[in-house]
Amino acid sequence: MFITFEGIEGTGKSTQIELLRERLEARGRRVVVTCEPGGSRIGAELRRVLLSLENRDLTPQAELFLYLADRAQHVAQVVRPALESGAVVLSDRFVDSTVAYQGHGRGMDIALLHQLNAVAVDGLWPQLTILLDLDPEIGLGRAVARNTREGKTNAEGRFEAESLAFHGRVRQGFLDLAAHEPERIRVVDAAGTPEATALVVREIVEARLAL
Ligand code: TYD
Repeated sequence: MFITFEGIEGTGKSTQIELLRERLEARGRRVVVTCEPGGSRIGAELRRVLLSLENRDLTPQAELFLYLADRAQHVAQVVRPALESGAVVLSDRFVDSTVAYQGHGRGMDIALLHQLNAVAVDGLWPQLTILLDLDPEIGLGRAVARNTREGKTNAEGRFEAESLAFHGRVRQGFLDLAAHEPERIRVVDAAGTPEATALVVREIVEARLAL
């Protein structure tokens, strides 16, 4: 089972993924946790290029192809082998981030992005997507606090430096995607405590896995 987590910065995706991993492992499932960008060895190099504030001159088109290259490598070397071995795969971001950020955020053509995603995933689409939804003002506040805490301000701040309006468009983009694919994409309110959110996520996932 391939499950992806999506949402703007600061929605708590990685916390929720860890809580879900613990729960599923306690229930005897083998779980592989991964992320984009950076889930594969080559992807880790692409991630540094993509997120560094030094690369403010990266063009939107070049940025798009780097995310897609990261995804193709990630699917081939990490996600597909893990699924074939019987694991539950939890990915922090996947195809919907490209539509939300490059499409709704940067204004690129949505239908074209879907086709390019299809090339990158080579038939391997997520079976379930948890969209953690949050007001960008709250999300960015959390993300900036975390980056300062972890000393990531310069190395990984390119998207946090985008305007509130940009993140508002990205959030709306995710919600539009969920409205079009309500079976796959489940919207979960991320404004509460991590534990409260985790309970909602757990119910959705366990219903799908029929645990
Ligand atoms: P991530 O490491 O998940 O950042 P965060 O933990 O702050 O959510 O993702 C890095 C950034 O990459 C994030 O701002 C969203 C962006 N992104 C895209 O613009 N397009 C994509 O296709 C992906 C996968 C990520």
